[in-house]
Amino acid sequence: MMECSWKIVILLLCAYLGIQYTAIMSLKPMFIRPCQGMGEDGHCQHRDLKDYKGAPMCEEPPFSQEFPQEQGRKHIIIFAMTRSGSSFMGQIFNQHPDVFYLFEPLYHVQIALTKPNTRNKSQANKSFLLGAFRDLLRNLCDCDFYFLENYIKPVPKDHDTPLFFRRGASRALCSPPVCDVPQDLEEVEENVCSKMCHSLNLTLASQACQNCSHMAIKIVRVPEIKDLRTLVEDPRLNLKIVHLVRDPRGILTSRIATFFTHFRMWKIWNVTGQRPHNIDLTQITTLCTDMLNSADTGLSKPSWLRGKYMLVRYEDLAKEPVKKAKEIYKFVGLNWNDRISKWILQNTKVNITPSEYNKFSTSRNSSAVAESWRLNLSFDIVKTVQNVCNATLSRLGYRSVHSVEELRNLSHSVVEPIEMSACYMTRHCKCLQNRV
Ligand SMILES: *[C@@H]1O[C@H](CO)[C@@H](O)[C@H](O)[C@H]1NC(C)=O
Ligand SMILES: *[C@@H]1O[C@H](CO)[C@@H](O)[C@H](O)[C@H]1NC(C)=O
Ligand SMILES: *[C@@H]1O[C@H](CO)[C@@H](O)[C@H](O)[C@H]1NC(C)=O
Ligand SMILES: *[C@@H]1O[C@H](CO)[C@@H](O)[C@H](O)[C@H]1NC(C)=O
Ligand SMILES: *[C@@H]1O[C@H](CO)[C@@H](O)[C@H](O)[C@H]1NC(C)=O
Ligand SMILES: *[C@@H]1O[C@H](CO)[C@@H](O)[C@H](O)[C@H]1NC(C)=O
Ligand SMILES: *[C@@H]1O[C@H](CO)[C@@H](O)[C@H](O)[C@H]1NC(C)=O
Ligand SMILES: *[C@@H]1O[C@H](CO)[C@@H](O)[C@H](O)[C@H]1NC(C)=O
Ligand SMILES: *[C@@H]1O[C@H](CO)[C@@H](O)[C@H](O)[C@H]1NC(C)=O
Repeated sequence: MMECSWKIVILLLCAYLGIQYTAIMSLKPMFIRPCQGMGEDGHCQHRDLKDYKGAPMCEEPPFSQEFPQEQGRKHIIIFAMTRSGSSFMGQIFNQHPDVFYLFEPLYHVQIALTKPNTRNKSQANKSFLLGAFRDLLRNLCDCDFYFLENYIKPVPKDHDTPLFFRRGASRALCSPPVCDVPQDLEEVEENVCSKMCHSLNLTLASQACQNCSHMAIKIVRVPEIKDLRTLVEDPRLNLKIVHLVRDPRGILTSRIATFFTHFRMWKIWNVTGQRPHNIDLTQITTLCTDMLNSADTGLSKPSWLRGKYMLVRYEDLAKEPVKKAKEIYKFVGLNWNDRISKWILQNTKVNITPSEYNKFSTSRNSSAVAESWRLNLSFDIVKTVQNVCNATLSRLGYRSVHSVEELRNLSHSVVEPIEMSACYMTRHCKCLQNRV
């Protein structure tokens, strides 16, 4: 009797291994990766998998655990919050010819799954929404744009839709063959793109995506880094997270100035100096809690995030954009391209030639741009935010101010220098304590 059950166990084990083997072998085509290196002109090249069948040196051994991520499409998630400078960060990727960039595709999910009259956001089924976010990101990482059709109303006909959110922010979606703009237009402005490129052919979008070695997706709707864990751990993805943070006082100022109706009470408070009694502080509380939790997760270097997380402060990016952008590129494994320097210089509105760049990069003035909120927010609000966000501010190196004079005196920065670049390179991340 005993012997018999052992035989059954062994038999089942063999069957199980057989199934596993078959499953892995059927997955094998996914591991066939194009060789590294891009075309001569540096633009995303045609990368149809079938073209690589006869190229065994480009095929990864399916069981090898050694550097399986070194080949194949690399995915970058720019993990940010609204008004934290994420559009600027996004463009730093979008300008690279090997990168396929998307501007917040999760917008479609949120619109489709949140009832229009749900004013109370926490009532929206949070875990359900998060699952849908991850699902969409997972599919987009495979360049599957048809999946997005589940969230577009009216449902696209023939995989063609005029309703793709912020399509114009993506260079790849605004250039041939996805959109018929003249070949010689080097950069298409977002509003020009939306005028010239009518509806988006999602089939072409998928192909354009497959042609690129890197994919960058900017998201602002996922609350915490740990919500992305299953994606980071997915062995078929090659995901790195660039976590963008900004001084919450700066974020708030920018939101008050941008989202007029939503932040009406804050505006009244700012202008009158009287705190409205019905003011809702949960927005700012949540913002700071999420930011702190995500930074804590990333900087505590859990094994699932090791080597895949980089923290970037918007203020540091604003201060020395080219230097910081180069660090970010190194982290995600992208070669630097002069087009990026050019774009940055043009868009930080500094009228200097590239040879003068170094002078600009060390100028103390440019950091003042990121701190200009200090001239635009009442001290009373600042004090309140400092109370609510106390831990977040000190963790990320943002100094609290204790008087109006201190707040308005821009020659004294509230952004403490922190050596963060070591955070993603060394095993032991002590950089936040080692203030320089
Ligand atoms: C993909 O690359 C090939 C070869 O460079 C090109 O002919 C094709 O138009 C590209 N497709 C898209 C959608 O970008
Ligand atoms: C929003 O919904 C949550 C959960 O249903 C509830 O706890 C909270 O009190 C609601 N807030 C408001 C302002 O209605
Ligand atoms: C969330 O949504 C799922 C699927 O729609 C549903 O099964 C679940 O009961 C919902 N949970 C809450 C708390 O509403
Ligand atoms: C979209 O592009 C594909 C590939 O070029 C083409 O076969 C298809 O007809 C296009 N769809 C529409 C609606 O134009
Ligand atoms: C201050 O806020 C106003 C809108 O309230 C905005 O137009 C202006 O650009 C802001 N200035 C700075 C320096 O942020
Ligand atoms: C710094 O900014 C001030 C005022 O915005 C300007 O007058 C000054 O020329 C700038 N200095 C440098 C070195 O750019
Ligand atoms: C706050 O109030 C000041 C002074 O009234 C104003 O200059 C500033 O633009 C306001 N800030 C915002 C973000 O509206
Ligand atoms: C928060 O504020 C309190 C009192 O102002 C201070 O004692 C404490 O150290 C602060 N906490 C952090 C984490 O900065
Ligand atoms: C601004 O701060 C600097 C450095 O802390 C100080 O030297 C200067 O006197 C301050 N200016 C004013 C107007 O308070």
